[in-house]
Amino acid sequence: MNGIIVYGTCYGSAKKYSDELSRRTGEKCVSYKDAGDLASYDRIVYIGSLYAGGVLGMAETLGKLADWQTKQIVIATVGLADTTDAENIANIRKAMQRQLPEGMMEHAKLVHLRGGIDYSRLGMKHKVMMGLLVQKAKNLPPEKKTAEVRAMIDTYGQIVDFVDLSRVDELL
Ligand SMILES: Cc1cc2nc3c(=O)[nH]c(=O)nc-3n(C[C@H](O)[C@H](O)[C@H](O)COP(=O)(O)O)c2cc1C
Repeated sequence: MNGIIVYGTCYGSAKKYSDELSRRTGEKCVSYKDAGDLASYDRIVYIGSLYAGGVLGMAETLGKLADWQTKQIVIATVGLADTTDAENIANIRKAMQRQLPEGMMEHAKLVHLRGGIDYSRLGMKHKVMMGLLVQKAKNLPPEKKTAEVRAMIDTYGQIVDFVDLSRVDELL
């Protein structure tokens, strides 16, 4: 089977998972920005980081794919929030549904991975966004503080790394 790994990252977490998968499978991995035409591949693994609910580069990459029903597709998200939390997974999937062609999410294998954050490396736009999001999150009533919201508040300003390369097994 002719496969490729495509990733969408800003700070490298999604690339770490992609590099490890590439190392294990021998398949090449590329940024979605350089992926080009994927028509000749039978198996596509897309690993994209979560930014305000969106999976970076996923819609651009998989949205333009023709004949996807004939291909094996694996989509992995990489985010800060706890991926053992059912509500978090449901929220991620609800947002993905809006970003993908109809039926693709049901056709694909889905995996939800954790990344990390280093506030000292964030660009100005992301720093401002996180500041505003965390301010808003702190004012939410306890019942509205989902795993995603709690992860944002708990890690604000810090360096955290939840990347777990052993989970790459789930993408094979
Ligand atoms: C502006 C901004 C928005 C984010 N939104 C989410 C989110 O909606 N859900 C989530 O789980 N993580 C969110 N994160 C955390 C990133 O997904 C996490 O840091 C990830 O590891 C980044 O991946 P990368 O290093 O591949 O870019 C956000 C981070 C930033 C800076």
